[in-house]
Amino acid sequence: MTRRGLVVGNWKMNLDYVEAVHLTQQLVTLLRAQAPASVDVVVAPPFVDLRSVTSVVEAERADIEVAAQHVSHRERGAFTGEVSLDMLTRLGVSWVIVGHSERRTLFHMDDDVVRETTRAALARRVRPIVCVGEDLAVRDGDDPEAFVTAQVGAALAGIGADPDAVVVAYEPIWAIGSGRSASAEQVRAMTVAIRRALAAHGLEGSRVLYGGSVTADNAGTLVDDGAVDGFLVGGASLKADSFHGIVRAVDDCYAGRR
Ligand code: PGA
Repeated sequence: MTRRGLVVGNWKMNLDYVEAVHLTQQLVTLLRAQAPASVDVVVAPPFVDLRSVTSVVEAERADIEVAAQHVSHRERGAFTGEVSLDMLTRLGVSWVIVGHSERRTLFHMDDDVVRETTRAALARRVRPIVCVGEDLAVRDGDDPEAFVTAQVGAALAGIGADPDAVVVAYEPIWAIGSGRSASAEQVRAMTVAIRRALAAHGLEGSRVLYGGSVTADNAGTLVDDGAVDGFLVGGASLKADSFHGIVRAVDDCYAGRR
């Protein structure tokens, strides 16, 4: 493995700005005490917490980058409730999660909007973390890999990006928040298929993450045997200890210490 690992904490609609500052400070302390050698660490707070979190990160000169959980692909105008990429970059945000299954399912984000958002983010030098993943019916069907690689193709068709700038997160819907992560074999089979789809778009160097009930306990096995570059973490990212434990598990794997 030559790429650096990547662990992204998706805080979802949790933590107000005071709690967000507190968690960021705890994370800064843990990362300073035990700094990962080969893992990039990103947190994705709610919109209203972003400036508070980037301020802590800047003041502490911490090795943490900040993501938004969503963004509009439009530049400005009459789009009540939406936030633009320029607004995010002004705050020091350098990553964005695109097409999380909760956005796709609950807020009707389709493949076209995922692609437009990915394209718009790259144009503003904000790195997209494009989420893909199947529901249980597709998992139990004939070919979950075909479904997920079609999502990858739909999101990245015609993008022509630098592979380093693009991350794909494989997040099976049935594993998100369920306490039941995919098995390492399932993750590996899907990772291989996703990397093949990425290569078809000239993105063979892009990093592939897994997300869905990742904890400090299962992270080591999933990163080793699942052949991913790291994780997109929901629930376990809300506590500094457990999130840091996941960062360490990925770092251990990358450093070949285990
Ligand atoms: P989870 O969420 O870790 O709580 O399963 C992952 C995600 O939705 O990104």
